[in-house]
Amino acid sequence: MSHLANDLDMARRWLADAAHVAVLTGAGVSAESGVPTFRDALTGLWAHFRPEELATEDAFRRDPARVWDWYQHRRRMLRDVLPNAGHRALAAFQQRHPGRLTLVTQNVDGLHQRAGSEGVLCLHGDLFADRWLDAARACCRLDAAAAGSPPHCGGCGNLVRPGVVWFGEALPVAALEAAERAAHACDVMLVAGTSGQVYPAAGLAHLARRAGAQVVIVNPGPTELDDTAHLVLAGTSARLLPELLG
Ligand code: APR
Repeated sequence: MSHLANDLDMARRWLADAAHVAVLTGAGVSAESGVPTFRDALTGLWAHFRPEELATEDAFRRDPARVWDWYQHRRRMLRDVLPNAGHRALAAFQQRHPGRLTLVTQNVDGLHQRAGSEGVLCLHGDLFADRWLDAARACCRLDAAAAGSPPHCGGCGNLVRPGVVWFGEALPVAALEAAERAAHACDVMLVAGTSGQVYPAAGLAHLARRAGAQVVIVNPGPTELDDTAHLVLAGTSARLLPELLG
């Protein structure tokens, strides 16, 4: 048996015995669906921007039309892509084993939900959600926002912004707390398709390890979390997640 086959076998046994599995995913799980990562999406018209010029509240206040158009561009790019075998394996495991798997994602592309995963904890928001830039007043109604780039409140001028977590913004508290509870309570923590560089998301793997879980990484390349893991499975998520969870 090859080294990888041995490790896969061991991880499969841990998963079979686990009362509770927590999964943390990142941009890599969507790579095989053809979703460009944030940086890879900066091509064509957008090639000369840095992420901080597009994905911060300051940038939006400075030039709302430019930042809104960038998010509309990303929304359009995502409309044509489909969940891949990795997304589907996670959703199928959850359906076969109700209540045993908590899925935490840093992705804003909605592909886990489209594959059928339930209760996905979206730490960095949702690219397809809209919300108000400033606190909503009585006149602010998202379903009645005046068209524009960005849409706005016809009453007070409040602007609609995408429901993603921008650089420098706090993560949604309820999702983060639920993710921390899952990391603390799980027997196996599966970390797939993330470089493990961005906190507090990456901290969930450390939390799970300290709490006694087996930590398993699925990634074709090295990650910042490799030293925290009990097993590092080198391969893509569309290939390995079905093998692990099937
Ligand atoms: N399967 C699994 N992993 C893959 C695949 C694949 N097919 N292809 C690439 N990867 C891995 C890369 O090796 C890398 O480790 O996916 C990881 C992607 O890393 P990042 O681009 O840093 O993405 P992520 O970890 O999700 O970034 C976290 O940072 O940019 C911000 O808010 C954004 O949510 C994002 C956060």
